[in-house]
Amino acid sequence: MTTLLHPYDVTQESDMQSPLDFNRRSRLKHVDRTFKAEIINIISLTEMEKLFQVRIMDDYYRSKFSYLPGQFVMLELPGFGEIPISISSSSSNKGFIELCIRKMGSVTTMLHKARRGAKVGIRGPFGTHFPMEKMHGHNVLLIAGGLGLAPLRAPIFNVIENRSNFNQVDILYGTKSPKNMLFNYQYEEWNRIADINLQVIVEHGADSWTGPVGMITSLLDDVTILPDDTFAIICGPPIMFKFVCERLTDDGIPMHRMFVSLERRMHCGMGKCCRCNIGSTYTCIDGPVFDYWTVMNLKEAI
Ligand SMILES: Cc1cc2nc3c(=O)[nH]c(=O)nc-3n(C[C@H](O)[C@H](O)[C@H](O)COP(=O)(O)OP(=O)(O)OC[C@H]3O[C@@H](n4cnc5c(N)ncnc54)[C@H](O)[C@@H]3O)c2cc1C
Ligand code: FES
Repeated sequence: MTTLLHPYDVTQESDMQSPLDFNRRSRLKHVDRTFKAEIINIISLTEMEKLFQVRIMDDYYRSKFSYLPGQFVMLELPGFGEIPISISSSSSNKGFIELCIRKMGSVTTMLHKARRGAKVGIRGPFGTHFPMEKMHGHNVLLIAGGLGLAPLRAPIFNVIENRSNFNQVDILYGTKSPKNMLFNYQYEEWNRIADINLQVIVEHGADSWTGPVGMITSLLDDVTILPDDTFAIICGPPIMFKFVCERLTDDGIPMHRMFVSLERRMHCGMGKCCRCNIGSTYTCIDGPVFDYWTVMNLKEAI
């Protein structure tokens, strides 16, 4: 009898990511199957961003769907198109995934009009992930600017759920103004976790804002950085992570211990359409998570 290989079966041991080979191929087989899914809840975060809780409808595929912090899915809104979106929820969450989506153009605008119960399609998960296990026993800096908190939320959950595996943990978040802040209902909970230091800064204050005002790099002045013992994950627009990575380089953190997530226009998400490549590097399968050294060596990556 022929044994059919399930799309979620992990590839051969030799194909799997080793800690030193994190940015080559995703651990999971790339599948072009679209899972029927349902939007089970929508949380309005700001004027521009909503959090969608999306549940794969088939019990079997839902139970098999697993992902790692930093990976993304292709989300299809039937009749309108398909877009890459980072998974923003904890990878230990088995019931549904959370996608934080900014209203930008045709597909995202229609998604923002969707109601609970709307049917969508999910392909994936795709891409490389943040090498959380490599960071065990070390200090971790989790830094996000603006919408970057959406992809950063998955590693934040990973650190919180496995707190004893990490040493000092700092979360730094910067937005344009207090009204642009994402997930502010969770800050208190994150802050309460022992030894997690969360700092938020805005570029332009408001009457109600009592926190710091300025650029995100200024928050680093209050963080004790042990260059030989610190890993950093930085998510946000390229201009922001460039400034942050340059500052961290000045502080002595080696480039290969800083990880960023690159965004490129994507169509297939699985290395077939050649829409996302930078030279011979495919952002969808060789990334989107890269170490800063690799990014600096990719021509025109930022
Ligand atoms: C790996 C990855 C993860 C992403 N994660 C998120 C996320 O968690 N939340 C979120 O809101 N967005 C995320 N994006 C961006 C998101 O895919 C785009 O905003 C979306 O495709 C726009 O689709 P649209 O049809 O609404 O806009 P369009 O009408 O296609 O374009 C409108 C605007 O969006 C920009 N845009 C289009 N495609 C992309 C793209 N692939 N990347 C960046 N900008 C784009 C265009 O330049 C234009 O300014 C991610 C992109 C990638 C590649
Ligand atoms: S999105 Fe098609 S090759 Fe990367």
